[in-house]
Amino acid sequence: MKIGVFDSGLGGLVITKSLIHVMPEYDYVYYGDTANLPYGEKSSAQILSYTLEAIKYLITQKCGIIIIACNTATSIALRYIQQKFIPAYAPDVKVLGVVIPTVEEALLGNASKVGVIATNATVASKIYTAELHKIKPKLEIKEIAAPDLVPAIENNDFETASTAVKEYASHFVDMDSLILGCTHYPLLKTYFRQALPKVRIISQDEFMGNKLKDYLNRHIEIDICLSRNHNYKFLVSSLNEHYRDVAEKMFPDISICQVEN
Ligand code: DGL
Repeated sequence: MKIGVFDSGLGGLVITKSLIHVMPEYDYVYYGDTANLPYGEKSSAQILSYTLEAIKYLITQKCGIIIIACNTATSIALRYIQQKFIPAYAPDVKVLGVVIPTVEEALLGNASKVGVIATNATVASKIYTAELHKIKPKLEIKEIAAPDLVPAIENNDFETASTAVKEYASHFVDMDSLILGCTHYPLLKTYFRQALPKVRIISQDEFMGNKLKDYLNRHIEIDICLSRNHNYKFLVSSLNEHYRDVAEKMFPDISICQVEN
């Protein structure tokens, strides 16, 4: 069985690379649903339906554990998938999201004011506020949606993205920490750190690898089922000329293929 990673687009490749960096020996299948990006602007019903299709696909690819790297899909679909879909459809498969590990990471140390920047759908779900408050009820939280960052990144337009980051960052100057609550934002972490030198920037590429390693150490029953041949597959639902070009520029070290329909 392999490790599956799902995202709505190419951004999740950053998270996948960080998993591979920490645990290179395992076999990975990445699936980015570029045909339906951006999820952050879709309805909950659409996000759930796309995410279910992606999980089903990764199960057919023999993934024994699947990480929903997409914050938006985690926010809207993870609970349903864990509680309803997996028990009925694939009880041996484990599906995990990114919100809980990110909240744990943000609350290391003594934060009293935490900012969250994410897609419209993630912010509207209020999942970060709910999970942060479960652990620290008095925490001051400021959540802001940044709908223009993902399109800029997926267009490889880092000039537009860096200008937008400066504007968004101005809302978080009085926070202790800022969660970059979207798989794409680690690609902008340097801009956030430049704009907010006193704020701890929580970037998912920097801890998800160790979080997964730790999880597998605690769940030997899953770990022993995972194959270790250093085999990595990177798949997307649509690889048109635009995505091929962007992927080559942003991830020249990765060979990405479109899934066969
Ligand atoms: N990957 C999504 C996330 O982490 C953002 C991109 C999108 O809107 O599809 O929230």
